[in-house]
Amino acid sequence: MREYRVGVVGCGRMAGSIDDEVEGYAACILPYSHAAAYSALGRTKIVAAADVNRDKLDAFCKRWKVESRYLDFREMIAKEKLDILSVTTPATVRHEVVTFAARKGIRAIYCEKAMCCSMSQAEDIVEACKRAKVKLNVGTLRRFHPGYQKMREIIEAGKIGEPRVVIAYSSGALMHTHSHTVDTVRFLLGDPKPIYIQGTIDGAEYDEAKNAFDQDPSLVAGQISFEGGKQAFFVPSPGMYEFEVDCTKGVVRVLDNGIDWRMRMRVESDKWGSHAPVPFPPFERVSPTVKCIEDLINAIETDSDTKCNASVGRDGMELCIGMALSHLRGGMRIKPPIENRTLYVPSN
Ligand SMILES: NC(=O)c1ccc[n+]([C@@H]2O[C@H](COP(=O)([O-])OP(=O)(O)OC[C@H]3O[C@@H](n4cnc5c(N)ncnc54)[C@H](O)[C@@H]3O)[C@@H](O)[C@H]2O)c1
Repeated sequence: MREYRVGVVGCGRMAGSIDDEVEGYAACILPYSHAAAYSALGRTKIVAAADVNRDKLDAFCKRWKVESRYLDFREMIAKEKLDILSVTTPATVRHEVVTFAARKGIRAIYCEKAMCCSMSQAEDIVEACKRAKVKLNVGTLRRFHPGYQKMREIIEAGKIGEPRVVIAYSSGALMHTHSHTVDTVRFLLGDPKPIYIQGTIDGAEYDEAKNAFDQDPSLVAGQISFEGGKQAFFVPSPGMYEFEVDCTKGVVRVLDNGIDWRMRMRVESDKWGSHAPVPFPPFERVSPTVKCIEDLINAIETDSDTKCNASVGRDGMELCIGMALSHLRGGMRIKPPIENRTLYVPSN
């Protein structure tokens, strides 16, 4: 079995230290950071890292015993003959790094969320990966979480009837937090086609001349209507991160960011439509970060597509940016594909 040469661009929390912050938090299945997962896998070795901040670079390389250090990611990519590149920078530099890496022959990219900051950047990334046959996964990790996968399986199998409504309880920034939220909603519903998007945002200024927000706005509320009459509602519940999928014969809900799952079935014999609890099936608690990297390796070895590829990332971005555009148009329904492809929403 061969060992894959990995490079990391952006040596901060998600690259190598976030596991320290979440120790003891039952919602997180470790390893969480890219470096901790590469190290646990055994088939991957981080041979080089790049960061514009010398202190961050040194601390990362010391902790993860990385031999080669670079202040410029381009130099690293040119010299290191990497198989896999992790892009754990802020989203504002992601487009530049990912498209450069794709052009320079990197085989697989693990790209953090948000994938980038505008739809035209997202299209570039999709095109660059397609042209160079690069495998890419975006780090919206609930797609790789066995609990959320089990939840989707139950919905897809029709065990609780047809999904009609998803309620996503979450506060946070549009691109930073809701890149996860929107992707999870799509995943749970089986990636249906969106029909329209509505949103209200707050906390960021829009500059018309630049067609850009000055920072990542918070999402006040959002709604997405999908094909087949499926609706998603984004509710700004403080401190909560939960998803409830209401189906025609029952309801399934993930609690406290994945600490627990609850399911209830409609009691057929009850004319008042009450629901009774049923057990949520057990699942193996395997790290989503590890699963995401394994999916990349599988894609390299079998020349198959990844589960959270650049098109999935782009389609999720369309919904986030669509909410910002709806806000700019007074809450109007926005039909995808959105026209304003260069509307820029920065995110860290
Ligand atoms: N998937 C998840 O669960 C999850 C969790 C945390 C963070 N993230 C994502 O990971 C990304 C990084 O977040 P973080 O919290 O680790 O941030 P961070 O600030 O800790 O790390 C980012 C690093 O990128 C470096 N950097 C900036 N510009 C660069 C450039 N041009 N070249 C090389 N390095 C550059 C910075 O110096 C910094 O060290 C964000 O996009 C965030 O959304 C994802």
